[in-house]
Amino acid sequence: MGWQKWLLFIVAGSSVWVLAEVVSRAQAAGPTASSQYVTSGVFTPAHATAASAFKDFLDLHPEHPVQPIAFTHTVHLAKRMQCTTCHVGVNRGPDAQIPNVTFCMGCHMVIDTNNPEIKKIAAYQARREDIPWARVYNYSPSAHVRFNHAPHIRAGVVCSTCHGDMTKQTTAERKVNLNMGFCVQCHKQKQVSVDCATCHY
Ligand code: HEC
Ligand code: HEC
Ligand code: HEC
Ligand code: HEC
Ligand code: HEC
Repeated sequence: MGWQKWLLFIVAGSSVWVLAEVVSRAQAAGPTASSQYVTSGVFTPAHATAASAFKDFLDLHPEHPVQPIAFTHTVHLAKRMQCTTCHVGVNRGPDAQIPNVTFCMGCHMVIDTNNPEIKKIAAYQARREDIPWARVYNYSPSAHVRFNHAPHIRAGVVCSTCHGDMTKQTTAERKVNLNMGFCVQCHKQKQVSVDCATCHY
């Protein structure tokens, strides 16, 4: 018994880990594990369902994912709200961030309270759960992509270049395919680094 033993150990160990992961994700998808969404003040990319975890694993991106609340960018932007009112991280660091349920209720405690969608939001807050938004733009960890919003915003690249016109979207749609060619094309044009390590880790 030499390296074979270790190989067996690693294979057996990792399959137990995979199994445990699958089981815990499946359990987390059940109605009992609401603690996953207890508002922490930060958006977490945790998967709402085992199916969404599986899709992420396969790196599938539906153009218009089904969302738990019929949120409308159109309506809020027509009220002259800025992107940064809600996506507070966008000009500060890598993540734009999605606001939590407490933030929404800051207005909706009094605005449009009879709307069934607003009642759903209030119910999430009452249960101390965050709204389990499905992600629209995101790279799976296996793509090893490093993206940072702030330098793009500082350099004057507008949101619509990468996300389309949000004033015409209800919940966000995947209007732009943010593949490698798209990124590299602009970096070449603007003479920004196209070293692999700029965007990959
Ligand atoms: C700064 C205040 C403010 C915040 C914060 C806010 N909203 Fe609103 N929201 C409004 C206003 C104003 C309306 C329009 C109400 C109306 O037309 O009567 C609205 C309307 C809505 C509607 C109804 C849309 C429709 O089609 O009429 C939904 C759903 C909604 N908001 C969800 C959310 C969610 C989810 C959040 C948190 C991410 C949020 N809102 C945060 C002010 C806010
Ligand atoms: C150069 C392209 C680019 C620009 C410009 C850009 N984004 Fe993004 N955005 C991305 C990419 C890529 C992701 C996915 C990042 C990931 O998965 O790591 C993303 C993700 C997001 C998310 C999801 C939450 C998060 O933090 O990842 C939000 C919200 C968002 N962008 C909002 C904005 C807003 C608001 C602006 C303008 C102020 C903007 N973006 C400008 C490329 C861009
Ligand atoms: C009132 C709050 C609010 C405002 C203002 C707002 N957003 Fe959002 N945004 C949200 C919420 C809530 C979500 C999650 C639901 C969804 O995907 O539409 C979201 C999702 C997104 C996403 C998809 C994130 C993902 O899952 O990858 C993008 C991109 C985005 N917003 C861009 C913008 C841009 C650009 C603006 C300004 C033009 C803007 N948003 C203004 C609340 C807001
Ligand atoms: C429309 C033009 C444009 C697009 C599209 C674009 N970038 Fe950039 N990117 C820039 C500019 C301009 C800078 C340099 C900003 C500066 O000089 O600080 C930059 C800088 C960066 C940086 C360096 C950040 C740092 O910390 O210095 C990274 C990483 C990056 N981009 C990744 C990406 C990825 C990944 C994509 C595709 C999702 C992308 N970019 C798409 C224009 C673009
Ligand atoms: C400006 C940013 C950027 C640079 C520079 C960059 N990549 Fe990428 N790359 C990406 C993004 C974004 C993806 C993910 C595409 C997706 O998942 O849709 C990607 C994906 C990939 C993939 C997965 C296959 C694919 O095409 O989706 C490989 C392999 C890869 N890159 C290799 C490289 C190598 C090698 C270099 C250096 C020569 C490099 N990349 C430079 C942004 C970049």
